[in-house]
Amino acid sequence: GKGLAVFTSGGDSQGMNAAVRAVVRMAIYLGCKVFFIKEGYQGMVDGGDNIEEANWSSVSSIIHKGGTVIGSARCMDFKERVGRLKAACNLVKRGITNLVVIGGDGSLTGANLFRQEWSSLLDELLQTSQINKAEREKYKQLNIVGMVGSIDNDFCGTDMTIGTDSALHRIMDAIDAIVSTAYSHQRTFIMEVMGRHCGYLALVTALTSEADYVFIPEMPPPRDWPTKLCTKLEQERTAGQRLNIIIVSEGAIDRDGQPITAEMVKQVVVDNLKQDTRITVLGHVQRGGAPSAFDRVLGCRMGAEAVMALMEATPETEACVVSLDGNQAVRLPLMECVEKTKAVAKAMADKEWELAVQLRGRS
Ligand code: F6P
Repeated sequence: GKGLAVFTSGGDSQGMNAAVRAVVRMAIYLGCKVFFIKEGYQGMVDGGDNIEEANWSSVSSIIHKGGTVIGSARCMDFKERVGRLKAACNLVKRGITNLVVIGGDGSLTGANLFRQEWSSLLDELLQTSQINKAEREKYKQLNIVGMVGSIDNDFCGTDMTIGTDSALHRIMDAIDAIVSTAYSHQRTFIMEVMGRHCGYLALVTALTSEADYVFIPEMPPPRDWPTKLCTKLEQERTAGQRLNIIIVSEGAIDRDGQPITAEMVKQVVVDNLKQDTRITVLGHVQRGGAPSAFDRVLGCRMGAEAVMALMEATPETEACVVSLDGNQAVRLPLMECVEKTKAVAKAMADKEWELAVQLRGRS
């Protein structure tokens, strides 16, 4: 059978295990020899025990677990050609020419570069006698399929990345818990949520928790936001509300591109309204714990589709990413999605907010 390996790379997210499980089982079902690569690209570079054959039962009882049981890492070695050369050798020695990468845009870009270089890497391995001519010929094509695992929902091309829904649940539960204590003491709470440069988690949880104000990177507030914020908070209190909730995305910025932090927002509220104000930074709680039903199903569907995409790949097939489009699993050209995702970052850096929002699209 064909050699296929799956690995998770970059920050972990809930639902990655469901995806790994689906890849392993679908690939076994279709007659492949399947491997785990542990600790992301680092395991591919280091080889040895990091590359382990998987069987049907090695992915039993993982679907309900958060994180990734095969480990993940942000790897520097793979960024160098010498690292990628070692990785290529490790794959050829095990007959692996099909890769499923579950990670963010950086991890997927790395995979695409690896695929483009594959031929020249094998040539170098042959020249240095690390592989023989038969191996060079037999393993000449490397197929790659990506899946986006991230709580941030920051990847263009997919409606939802694997992990986002679970993070939303976790944030929503945390806000619900805060609301009860805020109510008792008539306090204002500022909640800082993750998302890196993407405001999705902040925006959606603001909607689900009746927050009074939200700060996100893609749509910086008007310059007089302190006045607007205070007016809004006061209005709510006058209307009889006993508390206020403000959500600040960790990547929130103002119209000059400068950070708006929870601490700054607190200062504005305290100085102008003298409200009893607290900050809660949710942190990695958002990335941990059991995956939601949505993320488990998403991981399963994406994983199965990824294997099918690999099995159908021809030498002409571009590396693709399996995405969710209107509740359908679809295959999109990997680099197109990566480029679009980079264009969002550029629009934000150029302070072209409308363009940034437009490019984010549904995701
Ligand atoms: O990309 C996922 C994420 O959790 C972001 O929301 C956050 O900014 C970052 O990773 C935190 O990174 P680390 O886990 O390395 O602290």
